[in-house]
Amino acid sequence: MMFNKKLNFLFAALVVFSFNGQAESLIEGSIDAGKAISITCGACHGLDGNSINPLWPNLAAQHASYTVEQLTAFRDGKRVNELMTAMAMNLTDQNIKDLSVYYESLPLTSKLVADPNNVELGEKIYRGGNKETGVAACIACHGPSGKGNPGAKYPLIYAMGAMYTEKQLRDYASGERISVGPVQIMRDIAQKLSEEEIKAVSSYIQGLH
Ligand code: HEC
Ligand code: HEC
Repeated sequence: MMFNKKLNFLFAALVVFSFNGQAESLIEGSIDAGKAISITCGACHGLDGNSINPLWPNLAAQHASYTVEQLTAFRDGKRVNELMTAMAMNLTDQNIKDLSVYYESLPLTSKLVADPNNVELGEKIYRGGNKETGVAACIACHGPSGKGNPGAKYPLIYAMGAMYTEKQLRDYASGERISVGPVQIMRDIAQKLSEEEIKAVSSYIQGLH
């Protein structure tokens, strides 16, 4: 019951925000200034924002509205990671906006594929959720191809390395990662996923393009 109320709230937000154009960034920043300070980030996230390690997220094409929120959370200690926290510590609000519009402007070129052994379960969860355990379908917020929704700050998740997505889902479930928004929607969802479902849906997402 509670869960449905939260969902309704988020769907209402989705409808309102989807009138904002997708082509223009919702964030005002300088792509050139972002590029200039992105050199250190490239060591882990790839020089073009396409990550070189399946445990580290791609930043290319990610909605700037979401990236601003996450970088601010790392800087202010609301999202914690031993590699990332140090990187965000000294960023100003303007640095964060510039980096976010820079990465948003880059193409996501990852060519990872889903594991054929569990793609069926992964697709089932992604598109339909699990009615027995009350898992909401990922497609409702992250979209049919994982592009998310910038206005509602539903992140782009397609083509992320499965190891990264698995870790995020486990972190949400344990409370290690706390959402920035007012509603802990991902915690509610991740806590209801079995380990098998986490692996399958993460692999399916890795193969989305
Ligand atoms: C030493 C490696 C390393 C460097 C350098 C690094 N990061 Fe990260 N970054 C990570 C890791 C690891 C994560 C995932 C943390 C987790 O598991 O929650 C991450 C996560 C992120 C996220 C969250 C992505 C998402 O989808 O939620 C953003 C945004 C980000 N980094 C931006 C940056 C920027 C901008 C820089 C440069 C100022 C940078 N990173 C430098 C390792 C690094
Ligand atoms: C009601 C909307 C909604 C539904 C349904 C939903 N998500 Fe999310 N998801 C979000 C929001 C909002 C965030 C960002 C939350 C934050 O600030 O941490 C998010 C974040 C994520 C992230 C972190 C992305 C990153 O780059 O770090 C992953 C992974 C994810 N969701 C996977 C899933 C999966 C898998 C499902 C289905 C089992 C799902 N989501 C269902 C709204 C939703």
